[in-house]
Amino acid sequence: MTLPAVILVGGQGTRLRPLTDRTRKDMLALVDRPLLAYTFEHLAGHGVARSIVSCGYLPDQIQAAFGHEHDGMALEYAIEDEPLGTGGAIGFAGRALEGSFFALNGDSLREADLGEMIAFHRSTGAKATILLTPVADPSRYGLVRTAADGRVETFLEKPRPEEIDTDLINAGLYVLEPEVLDLVPEGRAVSIEREVFPTLAAEGSVYGIALPGYWLDVGTPESYLQAHRDVLERIFSTQVGDALGADFTLVDDTAEVHPRAKLVPPVYVGPGAVVEEGARLGSLAVLGAGARLARGGVVENAVVGARTSIGEGASVVGSVVGDGAELGAGCQLHNLAVVGPGAKVGEGNVLDHGLRVGAGQTIPDDALHFT
Ligand code: GDD
Ligand code: MG
Repeated sequence: MTLPAVILVGGQGTRLRPLTDRTRKDMLALVDRPLLAYTFEHLAGHGVARSIVSCGYLPDQIQAAFGHEHDGMALEYAIEDEPLGTGGAIGFAGRALEGSFFALNGDSLREADLGEMIAFHRSTGAKATILLTPVADPSRYGLVRTAADGRVETFLEKPRPEEIDTDLINAGLYVLEPEVLDLVPEGRAVSIEREVFPTLAAEGSVYGIALPGYWLDVGTPESYLQAHRDVLERIFSTQVGDALGADFTLVDDTAEVHPRAKLVPPVYVGPGAVVEEGARLGSLAVLGAGARLARGGVVENAVVGARTSIGEGASVVGSVVGDGAELGAGCQLHNLAVVGPGAKVGEGNVLDHGLRVGAGQTIPDDALHFT
């Protein structure tokens, strides 16, 4: 037995700037496909046959990439005139459905067993059931305190440090009964986390369950790199991970890797990408479609986007280069440096300590020398 799903994709992704300056957060590539594809894969893998993508602003990029079907799952789009908040958006899309449904945040990666979640939801008779996951620092999330049977006692969005007494947080996926939408007033923005769940907790009709399986919120350059590592190392089980095979190496048939270049697994080389003589790619590296890694260049524990050009002897370590960016010869990127899409970084620049270059920005030769 499964349910239809409402997927929320309305957020702005500000902490991922400049990567999100030209691409919406949910459409940023994770290895070879948009982040959102992994949410679709998860839902479809558990038999979800119909999903409504709930969009706070125009979903052109999503519609263009996915259309009306993905992995055998029908896709529909609910487009708000203006962002309605998480609760308002679930109401706007969910009122078109009959019976119980899943609602979920489209900006996290998960592999929880959805069938088990439904079974638990039915066993308690709850109006809402929240998937829970443990995290090291709950402050950026919704803290959920439960009784031994899973009944939610408190739901506290973005708790203050002194309020944190559990590591369990809202993993951003719910089973909801239609009557939950009675708590969502129409015509204004409503937060399900700040308005609806606290009300349900007070009446004892919302439950939480922590299920095994991978979970990650992709909200920062650091977690974006983490997501890549987890897919490439198959800590997070995905179709892409499977395609990497036993040698953890996936080189597209149309890519060109020079015989005297070195690939260190796990590694992914996209369609039409070029790795020149003496260059080294990996471990834990992604070279996007049509990208070029010039002679002697190094990309390690890093993501280099589609159509980028990494100059001779340049190194990109623990950093991210956005689509279409160009790094001149001898550039060095370290420690979570982020070069925005379409930026041009001249020769010999050193970018360190989380330095971010804006989308389309130009940096002259030898201008930056952070150490
Ligand atoms: N359609 C629509 N309209 N979607 C929205 C809107 C809106 O007005 N506002 C936010 N969303 C979407 C976002 O795109 C995201 O997928 C999801 O709703 C949650 O919003 P975020 O803005 O990303 O919230 P958060 O990351 O601070 O916290 C949420 O996620 C945490 C887990 O990652 C909360 O649900 C927390 O409780 C939770 O722990
Ligand atoms: Mg979020």
